[in-house]
Amino acid sequence: MKITVFGSGYVGLVTGACMADVGNQVICMDIDADKVAKLQQGEIPIFEPGLDAMVKENQAAGRLKFTTDVKEAVAHGVFQFIAVGTPPDEDGSADLRYVLAVAESIAEHMTDYRVVIDKSTVPVGTADKVKAKIEEVLARRGEKIEFDVASNPEFLKEGAALNDFMRPDRIIIGVDNPRTAELLKALYAPFNRSHERIITMDVRSAELTKYAANAMLATKISFMNELANLAEYLGADIEQVRQGIGSDSRIGYSFIYPGCGYGGSCFPKDVKALERTAKEQGYHAELLNAVENVNNRQKSRLFEKISAHYQGKLEGKVIALWGLAFKPDTDDMREAPSRVVIESLCRAGARVQAYDPEALAEARRIYRDKPQLKLCSSPSAALDNADALVIVTEWKEFRSPDFDELNRALGDKVIFDGRNMYEPAFVRRSGLAYHAIGRP
Ligand SMILES: NC(=O)c1ccc[n+]([C@@H]2O[C@H](COP(=O)([O-])OP(=O)(O)OC[C@H]3O[C@@H](n4cnc5c(N)ncnc54)[C@H](O)[C@@H]3O)[C@@H](O)[C@H]2O)c1
Repeated sequence: MKITVFGSGYVGLVTGACMADVGNQVICMDIDADKVAKLQQGEIPIFEPGLDAMVKENQAAGRLKFTTDVKEAVAHGVFQFIAVGTPPDEDGSADLRYVLAVAESIAEHMTDYRVVIDKSTVPVGTADKVKAKIEEVLARRGEKIEFDVASNPEFLKEGAALNDFMRPDRIIIGVDNPRTAELLKALYAPFNRSHERIITMDVRSAELTKYAANAMLATKISFMNELANLAEYLGADIEQVRQGIGSDSRIGYSFIYPGCGYGGSCFPKDVKALERTAKEQGYHAELLNAVENVNNRQKSRLFEKISAHYQGKLEGKVIALWGLAFKPDTDDMREAPSRVVIESLCRAGARVQAYDPEALAEARRIYRDKPQLKLCSSPSAALDNADALVIVTEWKEFRSPDFDELNRALGDKVIFDGRNMYEPAFVRRSGLAYHAIGRP
């Protein structure tokens, strides 16, 4: 099948590569000329396990192409995926400018039937806006060309994106007619072989399903963080509580890890956007509001703990920081808790020596030459002359450090762990002070 994907970011690139990998002819279009030039040369602008090889293989096989040429992109695919960003606007609502710009481009250049598929996370009612935009442009052109608009939200997780796309838990297809449903079912057949994964529904429900999923996951995290903070007051250990409740099959073990808050390009903006959608309907989404507030507070917890330990006297302290990405196995630092920690420490007069296995280039891009931040190429380089260690992202390579070496390296012999990676008693046996989240 012939497929066009607008946007070559985390979602667009994975969609394009996976669609090509099952034998389709794919063109990925992006307005970022630098990005496209790199992709054309086989250089992948993001870190996502397995993506590099998949893109190169499919490019070499002639199934995957990259372009900045809108006309070529619209002419290519019967399926036109919109996978561009939907960042938060000033008021928290999703900014639909990029989505609608793509709709306009498609309408300007289409000459025959197209299925336009919203894969970006977009508020309920966006498919209607996309449809209206295309109709408006076609009317201006004086053309009558058939098209359909579908909602097909993406649920991939950065760090496991290829597996999530190739073997999804579900494929949500939101349509308003049987023809579009048939076409999308055929398109997704290669990903739907072992058992039925396609759930077909109306467009608005599909749009809301994506927000519901992210809001539920964010709620689980904020709930556990709330309980972790309470556990600190009560002298209870949240890790024991976590296991105690996870064993209940109605609750389950996944997504109930306390920590220093959720980040990334999705949860923060999607919770905000859903709250905003509710507000526009005159409904006050009390729970969503609390989920967001708890998370914002939680992102400051690590700094508060560090500041309390030093009684506010952080001037001149050197803090080693492990983990910049918002979660392991990605280089994405959008809304990452590490940013709150770094910025608070620098404001308080400390210097930060940070290490991350994949996000150093992204940190360099964000902070450029921030004098108080030194980016280090290994965990031990970050410890050089450091007074304390703070752990912000639970990368695998941080799971089992040499605590005796940490004791020797850290001037003030103290670890602040935002991800509860270690057994407190074990760490303390090495003579280190250890502050985790919700643990005595
Ligand atoms: N990142 C994730 O884990 C994830 C998961 C599920 C859903 N989503 C959703 O998918 C959407 C895309 O997210 P992302 O993380 O891939 O974003 P991204 O910022 O990584 O990529 C967006 C890309 O779109 C390009 N773009 C902007 N306007 C364009 C236009 N008019 N034509 C062509 N390209 C254009 C940008 O240059 C950029 O390369 C968002 O709505 C997001 O909420 C993201």
